Amino acid sequence: MSGEYAVHIENLSVHYGQTPAIMGVCLDVSDGEYLGIIGPNGGGKSTLLKAILGLIPISSGNISIYGGNAHKNRSLVGYVPQFAVLNRKFPISLLEVVLTGHLKQGLSPFFRYSSKDEESVHALLERVGIESLANRQISELSGGEFQKMLIARALATNPKLLLLDEPTASVDAASRDQIYGLLAELNKNMTIILVTHDLLAVSSQVTRLACLNGQLVYHGEPELTEKVVNNLYSCPVDLIAHGVPHRVLRDHGEE
Ligand SMILES: Nc1ncnc2c1ncn2[C@@H]1O[C@H](COP(=O)(O)OP(=O)(O)OP(=O)(O)O)[C@@H](O)[C@H]1O
Ligand SMILES: [Mg+2]
Repeated sequence: MSGEYAVHIENLSVHYGQTPAIMGVCLDVSDGEYLGIIGPNGGGKSTLLKAILGLIPISSGNISIYGGNAHKNRSLVGYVPQFAVLNRKFPISLLEVVLTGHLKQGLSPFFRYSSKDEESVHALLERVGIESLANRQISELSGGEFQKMLIARALATNPKLLLLDEPTASVDAASRDQIYGLLAELNKNMTIILVTHDLLAVSSQVTRLACLNGQLVYHGEPELTEKVVNNLYSCPVDLIAHGVPHRVLRDHGEE
């Protein structure tokens, strides 16, 4: 492909009030790429995803999605927000939530879902492993089940680009493996950007890695040097090196 970028970001800065959250970020994501984004709490990872989605105003710079602006190409993007953003008290069933993924902007609230939509949603629920919970109220789902529901919802529109903000933060090990298996399969025909604190996942999953700490301190192969990690987390590397495989941490201090 002649270098069409899924996401092209030039010199992006975002402020909340006077406080900068991200500064001067330049980042290109190629079509078909699987990009992992890591960084400390407050490093601006969620802010970056929201800026890509056009959910928050940017202070300066430029973002394009498949060559168009965020609003124009929003329908190409699926989004799994960071856990606990949605109001779980809202009386709605899991099936209904996932079906809302099919609602296009501007449709009336009385729009009826087609039985074809419902069929494809059931197939999605099966894929994510929660089909038996379709008629549950969302307030009665466990954290991990809720998270899987959000993934199914993001997939309902069959996006070209999928943004996930810590999708495995509250799921057990088996579910985490299941989600990563699903993402790897989806990546065969979908561009994925995954924000995670799970450095193990980064090693086995992604094709590219970005490290964000207000600024983009690294962008490249999913292999980190001690210097980059120290720079990123501003703390001794052995704090996070525990259990991190060598593919991620190339220059392991103790070796
Ligand atoms: N709505 C907001 N209003 C004001 N400040 C905000 C807002 N959202 C985020 N921030 C601040 O912007 C900075 C970046 O936040 P962001 O949520 O993007 O970090 P993050 O990398 O996603 O962190 P985490 O790993 O904890 O999810 C933080 O300092 C945060 O306090
Ligand atoms: Mg976040």
